[in-house]
Amino acid sequence: MSEDLYESCWLNYRKIEDPYLLKQYSNWCANFVAVVDTPLIQSALNEFDMGIRGMLGIIPFISTTVNKTSFVIVGVLGNNPEIDREVSVSEQNSIMEDGYLIKNIKAGGKCYIVVTGKNDRGVLYGIFELLRLIRINTDLNGIAKIENPCNALRVVNHWDNMDGSIERGYAGKSIFFEDNKITRNLKRIRSYGRLLASIGINGVVINNVNAHETETKLITKEYLPYVAEIADVFREYGIRLFLSVNFASPIELGGLRTADPLDDEVKNWWQKKAEEIYAYICDFGGFLVKADSEFRPGPFTYNRNHADGANMLAEAVKPHGGVVFWRCFVYNCLQDWRNKTIDRAKAAYDHFMPLDGMFNDNVVLQIKNGPMDFQVREPVSPLFGGLTKTKTMLELQITQEYTGQQKHLCYLAPMWKEIMNFDTCCKGEGSTVDSIISGVAGVANVGDDLNWTGFQLAQSNLFGFGRLVWNPSLSSREITEEWVRMTYSNDEEVVNTVLEMLLKSWKIYESYTSPLGIGWMVNPGHHYGPNVDGYEYSKWGTYHRADLEGIGVDRTVRSGTGFTKQYCSEIASKYEKLDTCPEELLLFFHHVPYTYRLKSGETLIQYIYNTHFDGADEAVKLKEKWQSLREKIKEPYFLHVLERLEGQIEHAKEWRDVINSYFYRKSGIKDELGRQIY
Ligand code: GCU
Repeated sequence: MSEDLYESCWLNYRKIEDPYLLKQYSNWCANFVAVVDTPLIQSALNEFDMGIRGMLGIIPFISTTVNKTSFVIVGVLGNNPEIDREVSVSEQNSIMEDGYLIKNIKAGGKCYIVVTGKNDRGVLYGIFELLRLIRINTDLNGIAKIENPCNALRVVNHWDNMDGSIERGYAGKSIFFEDNKITRNLKRIRSYGRLLASIGINGVVINNVNAHETETKLITKEYLPYVAEIADVFREYGIRLFLSVNFASPIELGGLRTADPLDDEVKNWWQKKAEEIYAYICDFGGFLVKADSEFRPGPFTYNRNHADGANMLAEAVKPHGGVVFWRCFVYNCLQDWRNKTIDRAKAAYDHFMPLDGMFNDNVVLQIKNGPMDFQVREPVSPLFGGLTKTKTMLELQITQEYTGQQKHLCYLAPMWKEIMNFDTCCKGEGSTVDSIISGVAGVANVGDDLNWTGFQLAQSNLFGFGRLVWNPSLSSREITEEWVRMTYSNDEEVVNTVLEMLLKSWKIYESYTSPLGIGWMVNPGHHYGPNVDGYEYSKWGTYHRADLEGIGVDRTVRSGTGFTKQYCSEIASKYEKLDTCPEELLLFFHHVPYTYRLKSGETLIQYIYNTHFDGADEAVKLKEKWQSLREKIKEPYFLHVLERLEGQIEHAKEWRDVINSYFYRKSGIKDELGRQIY
């Protein structure tokens, strides 16, 4: 399979149709002035060249000095007097690390565009932004735009295994590994680097958090030369490579008797290991660690805590500028379902709060957005706001494990935006998640399928992730519109139709799957499709507690597991009471009778029936909306998306009927509208 066949997704650089804009852009873009002194500036130039050839149909003339009156000039601040002269002190001060300025200058008989930043990564991002503005038909006359990333760490996590499989992957096989070897297909990695850099990603973890036997060896001489080749490619796009490591490596690789983080031999082993890795990869990002979770080894074996474990690794990479991402997804996965006092939702907070302030400054705690596990709806993890003396990072799941596995349309940017904008109240009102974290990690949805994500519309989740992590104050609508315009077309009907489909899709998916924050109800193992009791009597700690009278997990302090008290008092008291708990999370926090009346006036059971019938109907409308674009979308794409939407309709019906029948049989209460329930 040729990597040339890979779609360039939102970087497809189709010809601009608007004649006025075409002329405006061509005037500037015909001449590109840059001193190419770093690989990133070279990447910026390559991208510009590609973008301008495609969108404007001209070949830009590249030079190192200004000799025209109309041009685009590019470079890092302080390196080029032509640029510095036109950037005011206040503008210079406003540009941060990785940020950029795009400015139209009219002076001395010249009219041109400056793209600059404080580092070459900022310049590269500026070029991607310029190309994006062109692609979405923005008038650049008079533009003066400074953009800085809100998060310093903008990382994707691949759950790729060396046999080529991807844990929770729905887009084919790994783009990094096959047959327990590292890919030689670096061209494809370069294409991926372009996609990631275009949305501001600056870190990539190439292997699964579950580092099994073979992946453990990635940090050995056998594999490091090849890992380094991948790092070299990503470096051209300002992306640092990280590896997930096995905490027990000193035993498995080093032949030591122990992996005790306080043992000197162990510390020494990791320090030597770090030196070895950095000899291959000078800018290696560091380690991602899943420890003492779902059977992965960790410090608990040695009666040590997570701070001991994380700090030991952090010390090893510290002299080289490395970071340790230490995951907080730690819970007992061998729980007794009969015991209603144990609550998996409480686990991460219980493990990590007592350690707040004990982590080294190059440790970042990576926390899943919710206290459970990437469900279609969960409250925000109380560790955000709870931890105030430790660096934290938000972990989101771009791959749609619990949200339709890239067979259903479920665009997640609106969900992520709610999470990032959630007010933890930890430092008074306005302490939103995005204002207290150091970065965001997203579990990637990419594989070797030609369109990268299996379902073409799922590319929007990768794009939305990057854009939102860069700037959480962008509206879902803005981000989504960019994606639609770049991917498909600037045709208003296409834009409005696809925009509406995407923006509604999360709610639609939620409405025909598990209701009001309860989550799960999926088939165990692969997690696809409805199975209400699939996890009800199991060890995983994921219950809905439905009985003949009601459903939901009582997590109140008053009568339940006491999870609500992990939040700061304003939020805790809201969640604690049935009438102030946000309804979309009602069943996450309360066991509620089927006859309970919601604010809409519907009873809970009627709400379940209504949303499930409506959700399945809405899935049909998604297809109808898409069909209205038949003439406007290239046939292979049109048919591909249509096929997925048809599958979604069938599957939404299955969800509807399984859920409705289950609750009808449990409660014995009929649907007021007399619709068919089995
Ligand atoms: C979920 C997921 C696993 C994954 C785990 C994790 O449980 O189903 O596949 O390994 O999360 O995030 O570590």
